[in-house]
Amino acid sequence: MTIYRVILLFLLWVYLPNFSSTEMLFRRTSEPQTKVVKARTSGRDGKVLHRQKRGWMWNQFFLLEEYTGSDYQYVGKLHSDQDKGDGSLKYILSGDGAGTLFIIDEKTGDIHATRRIDREEKAFYTLRAQAINRRTLRPVEPESEFVIKIHDINDNEPTFPEEIYTASVPEMSVVGTSVVQVTATDADDPSYGNSARVIYSILQGQPYFSVEPETGIIRTALPNMNRENREQYQVVIQAKDMGGQMGGLSGTTTVNITLTDVNDNPPRFSQNTIHLRVPESSPVGTAIGSVKATDADTGKNAEIEYRIIDGDGTDMFDIITQKDTQEGILTVRKPLDYESRRLYTLKVEAENTHVDPRFYYLGPFKDTTIVKISVEDVDEPPVFSRSSYLFEVHEDIEVGTIIGTVMARDPDSASSPIRFSLDRHTDLDRIFNIHSGNGSIYTSKPLDREISQWHNLSVIAAEINNPKETTRVAVFVRILDVNDNAPQFAVFYDTFVCENARPGQLIQTISAVDKDDPLGGQKFFFSLAAVNPNFTVQDNEDNTARILTRKNGFSRHEISSYLLPVVISDNDYPIQSSTGTLTIRVCACDSQGNMQSCSAEALLLPAGLSTGALIAILLCIIILLVIVVLFAALKRQRKKEPLILSKEDIRDNIVSYNDEGGGEEDTQAFDIGTLRNPAVIEDKKLRRDIIPETLFIPRRTPSALDNTDVRDFINERLKEHDIDPTAPPYDSLATYAYEGNDSIAESLSSLESGTTDGDQNYDYLREWGPRFNKLAEMYGGGESDKDS
Ligand SMILES: *[C@@H]1O[C@H](CO)[C@@H](O)[C@H](O)[C@H]1NC(C)=O
Ligand SMILES: *[C@@H]1O[C@H](CO)[C@@H](O)[C@H](O)[C@H]1NC(C)=O
Ligand SMILES: *[C@@H]1O[C@H](CO)[C@@H](O)[C@H](O)[C@H]1NC(C)=O
Ligand SMILES: *[C@@H]1O[C@H](CO)[C@@H](O)[C@H](O)[C@H]1NC(C)=O
Repeated sequence: MTIYRVILLFLLWVYLPNFSSTEMLFRRTSEPQTKVVKARTSGRDGKVLHRQKRGWMWNQFFLLEEYTGSDYQYVGKLHSDQDKGDGSLKYILSGDGAGTLFIIDEKTGDIHATRRIDREEKAFYTLRAQAINRRTLRPVEPESEFVIKIHDINDNEPTFPEEIYTASVPEMSVVGTSVVQVTATDADDPSYGNSARVIYSILQGQPYFSVEPETGIIRTALPNMNRENREQYQVVIQAKDMGGQMGGLSGTTTVNITLTDVNDNPPRFSQNTIHLRVPESSPVGTAIGSVKATDADTGKNAEIEYRIIDGDGTDMFDIITQKDTQEGILTVRKPLDYESRRLYTLKVEAENTHVDPRFYYLGPFKDTTIVKISVEDVDEPPVFSRSSYLFEVHEDIEVGTIIGTVMARDPDSASSPIRFSLDRHTDLDRIFNIHSGNGSIYTSKPLDREISQWHNLSVIAAEINNPKETTRVAVFVRILDVNDNAPQFAVFYDTFVCENARPGQLIQTISAVDKDDPLGGQKFFFSLAAVNPNFTVQDNEDNTARILTRKNGFSRHEISSYLLPVVISDNDYPIQSSTGTLTIRVCACDSQGNMQSCSAEALLLPAGLSTGALIAILLCIIILLVIVVLFAALKRQRKKEPLILSKEDIRDNIVSYNDEGGGEEDTQAFDIGTLRNPAVIEDKKLRRDIIPETLFIPRRTPSALDNTDVRDFINERLKEHDIDPTAPPYDSLATYAYEGNDSIAESLSSLESGTTDGDQNYDYLREWGPRFNKLAEMYGGGESDKDS
């Protein structure tokens, strides 16, 4: 037989979808169906195709995966036409898994699978078969290839790539809004049967969510799901193969679904009325307090804008929205005053900044509250009636005149009285004073515009009840001009007249200055004090005047210089005038009128003296001065000793006062009156250097002295002195001893003849002190020599 024929035995496994795998296995093992097919039949026309050339007729073997039997799974049988059944042929298998996974009975050609096969691991095995003669070892058939195809069973459940999915959907979404799609995969053969056909169902998460069975799309299932009620949902989705039928394998996954926020809640104030307090002294911009509305939404859906929409304090306060805290901060917009208004009411609105038009139907996304603001009283400093004062005053006013009055009041309801004072730093010369009670400023020294035109003072107002509350105000005092200064020559004029001058010749143009500052400007008039035959003055009526000669024939040998008094007056009220005297030297001139030589005596310095000579003279003077100073210093050094010796005396005369005075206002600390005690003054006048010590004797030997006796006594002595030819030609001091009562010598004088009762007159000195003083003055040189 040259034609080999292959009889292919294969098992026909009929696919029975409704059977479970175990049933199928049972069938497989209990009734393995084998069919011997002589030649492969195929083709749509059903014709039998005869293969002439090849002894093998190869095809594929089918093998069910996941065989669980204890014996080898039978795959099929190879058979050659040459096989007489005598065992002379030997079948050999090679290719994928040959010898290991697939073994062949070399005598019978039966192929078995040695272990369980997983289609999902490898779906096709390609093998080659050969039949050889056992004796010759020659192939009786050419090698042929065939395929073992592994048949799928539903041995894989659907699996989700993720164990937990997270997804989100906006709250209030309409029913059926897609949330997320979950997809499970099944490793089984999708091209064969329903093993890989997955159906989704929801195990947990109803009634909020649903899943589309075919697609795995999760959708919302409940209307008006509110994030503010519940935000998180856990949905469990099951995927089941076999089209979801009983017996299908299944896998599950969890989907964490979060509802995202939409602006479906308006802001709300928790209180209808909010009370705030603010001290009236709070400056503009001060934060008074805050209001806060709450919004159940989150993020930008909870953003709130605050506004003052109404109330009686809308222009007094502002509200600022603070982004991070979502609070409305109320601030002061205008200065507050407790005395004029104590309570303000504001209507404050809080509104969402991001409003979703879809939820307009849920109502207005704003709320209002009433804010009551109480202004609290603060002790405020006094307030002046003006921010500054300008007083204009003429410089000639009398000392003590009130130049103006400042006014201040305490703005507090208590209205404390005010005490005014001047800041002495602004009036160092103490020209002004202020009545502390009523604020009237008056002068205490004469004013002079020509010294200071402005006095810029600072007045302090303090509350008497609370002296710490003070306010200052600037007081500008402008001193107005009074014509109290006479005009004078503008400069010193060195004038000369030429000997050959003709009458009417201009020899000097003069001008004047005046320290006053009249409103209409200065206007000066020039004239001669007396009619002068030699010179004349011509007023130019522009505040200058010309000095002209009136004659000719000046001669410096005759008269070397003329004095020309010129009267200059201004035209202000009261008219002030002065007389300036021009010294006009007479000089020899050339024909052009240039000065040649002048009379020397008219000049302070000789005209010919050079600057070099002047410097030399100055140097001499300086050297002389230095010598004098050195001499004086030497003398001082020599006198040092007596100075040291008299130190004690000096120290004795230093009186120290430890108490510090209270300034000019303090009249209690030190009574200046004591210094003015006439008795004390008189005592002081009794100078030791003048009064003869013997005059003190009457204190120790008092006697009833008669005034006239003493006067007579002294007059007599005076007369004697006056007629004494030997007396010195100047006033001199003479002393006369007086003998007292208690003298052992017993005076013979008539002075003794007075009363001698024991009444001792200790007041003698007090009574006579001034008289003795007068006498001493008389003898010491009279009234004009008090200081000798
Ligand atoms: C899912 O939600 C559960 C319960 O709400 C939570 O414990 C879990 O952490 C969430 N998982 C993820 C990944 O968000
Ligand atoms: C203030 O008081 C002084 C002294 O009592 C008085 O001379 C002056 O006129 C007063 N001023 C005013 C504005 O009343
Ligand atoms: C005082 O004030 C006036 C007006 O403000 C000003 O012109 C003047 O210079 C001031 N004088 C002094 C000394 O400050
Ligand atoms: C005028 O000049 C004459 C001499 O020329 C002199 O005697 C006379 O005193 C002068 N008069 C006056 C007022 O200076």
